[in-house]
Order: sequence, then C-alpha cells, then structure tokens
Amino acid sequence: MKLVCLLGSPRREGNSATVAALLTARARELGAETETVYLNGLTMKGCQGCYACKTGADRCVVADDLAPVLESVRTADALVLATPVYYGDVTAQLKCFIDRTFSYLVPDYATNPVRSRLAPGKRLAFVIVQGHPDEKLFADIYPRYELFFRWLGFTDNHLVRWCGLQEKSDVLKRTELIELAERTAEQLVRGG
Ligand SMILES: Cc1cc2nc3c(=O)[nH]c(=O)nc-3n(C[C@H](O)[C@H](O)[C@H](O)COP(=O)(O)O)c2cc1C
Repeated sequence: MKLVCLLGSPRREGNSATVAALLTARARELGAETETVYLNGLTMKGCQGCYACKTGADRCVVADDLAPVLESVRTADALVLATPVYYGDVTAQLKCFIDRTFSYLVPDYATNPVRSRLAPGKRLAFVIVQGHPDEKLFADIYPRYELFFRWLGFTDNHLVRWCGLQEKSDVLKRTELIELAERTAEQLVRGG
C-alpha cells in the first residue's frame, strides 16, 4: 500500500513533522511504501478558481510543484496531513494543497452522489498540534476538513491531535502521543 504524507509546517523538524515521521516509520515497518512532501519547500499557488477542472480538464491545470503531489495522492491508498494550528486553522501551506483538491471533484459534485474522481476507500489521518493547552480550542479544524475529504472518497479517517506543544522537542516527551501516532499508522495500513 502507498502512503503519502504532506508536512504543512515550515519547521522541518517541528512537532507535527516529528509525529508524522513516527507515524510513517511505523507504516513502513508494516510494509507500506511512504512518500513525504515538505510543502514549504515547494513553489506553489492556491486554487486559481479557473474551473478548468470542471469545464474540460479532469485534473488541476495549474503547472507548479503541487501538480505532481496531486498526482501522487491520486494513486495513494492513505494520506497523512500534518499541520500545526496557525491562527485557529491549518497552515497556509497545507491550505494551498487542500484548495487544489477541488480538482478531484467531478463537475456536478453538488448533485452527483459520486462526487469524487478519486478511487473510493482511501484512508486519511490528520496530525494536528497546537500551542494552546485547552483541547476545546480549535477542535473544529478536523471535522471541518474531514467532511470535504469524505466528499473526495476518504472513508476511513483518523485524527492525531495534541495540545500544549510549543518547543520543537516537546513532542518526544509525550509517550501517549507517540503511541497514538503508531496506532494510527496501523489503522491506515490495515484498516479499521
Ligand atoms: C504564526 C503562528 C500562529 C499560531 N497560531 C496558533 C493558534 O492559533 N493556536 C495555538 O494553539 N497555537 C498556535 N501557534 C503555535 C503552534 O501551533 C505550536 O507551536 C505548534 O506546536 C507548532 O508545531 P510545529 O512544530 O509542527 O510547527 C501558532 C504559531 C505560529 C508560528
């Protein structure tokens, strides 16, 4: 199985990237082929709202560094989206990718029961870390985005979330978080 992991933080070795690395390492132990993309290193645009993907093309026509990433996700069995909370949301880097997934939707996605051009049954995990320790704050991020990923055909979806993380090394002190990341890798590879 193929697992694609997108890192939304500019901090290459920050908390979300560290959790994502633990998750992908466990997935590889279980036999997955993994590919990790550092979004901050790409030259990319958000969705241009050109609607070319709805009026002729069957994919995004914007030719930048995100184009091969969108193709890779197309053939993946599982997707991991790792991000810190920035101003109560995912980072701009990850939002660029999310907006471009509009190209996976069929032209009549609003009425068609099969909304997605992607093969059904893909698995998804969001890794979300935040500085604020209050779990009630920013808890809306995952359900808000997960809904759209269900539209795209991701049906087996998981959240790895941790609050109160600031320093880059904070994450390695949280054994429960490490266990959660590894358990989620098992769910992504084996299902369930
Ligand atoms: C620009 C910016 C905005 C942030 N906004 C929030 C926020 O709204 N809520 C929060 O709890 N933490 C916020 N943080 C803190 C980060 O979410 C936190 O430090 C996180 O652990 C960083 O993850 P990383 O190491 O993967 O980049 C913000 C940090 C930055 C740099």
